Amino acid sequence: MKKILFTLLVIISTVVSAQKFEGLAQTPPLGWNSWNTFATDINEQLVKDIADKFVTLGLKDAGYEYIVLDDGWMAKERDANGNLVADPVKFPSGIKALADYIHAKGLKFGLYNCAGNTTCAGYPGSRGHEYQDAKLYASWHVDFLKYDWCNTENINAIGAYTTMGNALIAAGRPIILSICEWGDNEPWKWAGTIGQQWRVTGDIINCWDCEVGHGSWSSSGIWKIINMRKDIRKAAGPSNWNDYDMMEVGNGMTNAEDRSHFAMWTMLTSPLIMGNDIRSATPETIKTLSNKEVIAVNQDKLGIQGFRFTNENDLEVWIKPIENNAWVISFVNMKEVPVEINFDWTKHEIGDNVNNKQLKVKEKTYKIRDLFNHKDFGDTSKVLKTTIGVHDVFMIKVY
Ligand code: GLA
Repeated sequence: MKKILFTLLVIISTVVSAQKFEGLAQTPPLGWNSWNTFATDINEQLVKDIADKFVTLGLKDAGYEYIVLDDGWMAKERDANGNLVADPVKFPSGIKALADYIHAKGLKFGLYNCAGNTTCAGYPGSRGHEYQDAKLYASWHVDFLKYDWCNTENINAIGAYTTMGNALIAAGRPIILSICEWGDNEPWKWAGTIGQQWRVTGDIINCWDCEVGHGSWSSSGIWKIINMRKDIRKAAGPSNWNDYDMMEVGNGMTNAEDRSHFAMWTMLTSPLIMGNDIRSATPETIKTLSNKEVIAVNQDKLGIQGFRFTNENDLEVWIKPIENNAWVISFVNMKEVPVEINFDWTKHEIGDNVNNKQLKVKEKTYKIRDLFNHKDFGDTSKVLKTTIGVHDVFMIKVY
């Protein structure tokens, strides 16, 4: 009993003493991260090219903002003063110059480190250097820090993330803290006072519903990730986001699967962080990623995380209330054959008890908008009929 009380006290005191910058990430951050495609094989030219593509491909215009360098940007050793240094071969001009390049394009810049002694890929971690590292990031004009959880031995997660959060506050530059402890310590229960987003699962992989083992850990496909956590949606809201990991859109699934993946990340109010090589992406991939009507669902000001309505007969139906008493509904066909849907509005009670919102189809007729095809799609006075291709999504706004 004493032990439980003590643990509770430690948790309460660390939560109470945690701080974070107000006003950051009022809607889920949109951006790109190097890890899914490049792992540690990153360099300065690559990042500059990505920044250029943000502009020329219209991704910046669609709302993408953060360019985040994941693991592998550092030299293997700190310098004589204990400061982190960029790998001199990969980043000969240094990190500040790269941040300046990205800022000059009106974009923001992020870096990665880890709460352990070393990062997951074996570079110097921040443990014991939190305040020093935060100061360095601020001096380099970093805007976003992804903070990982490898090689942490038995340290306390709330304590470790609180220390880094407070170090960022002390350094004085508003930096988003992206917590990445894979959901191991249920961050949706405590991370909202420390960071702006927190990973809810282990690593994603580019498949529809597979799981790939790597010895002591495994990575999960899109639907494994979606199904891994229950009852966490209440934690989401402005400045607090459940992070379902960097996206795999454009990384080898079908275009239909990519559309469904993208739709689901927007429904879940996950940060939308591209993880593909946008330099060589197909027009279809860019079309999916830059779909402003779909992105608007993710960026809706209410910040209410969507949830599963039903999943009978291999048809996933997800709903999300948005501003102005409107709703978004996504139908995803899980079957290996196209499916025809007949959705009779009068037979379904669409509502969100947590947020006290209802779709009142019996009282009024709502208009329907097909968000992927940018078309009006009739209204709720008639049964909704359409055909959805294999693993594709039909995503509508009802307003
Ligand atoms: C962990 C994270 C990944 C990535 C790698 C880098 O696995 O979950 O997203 O940052 O580390 O080594």
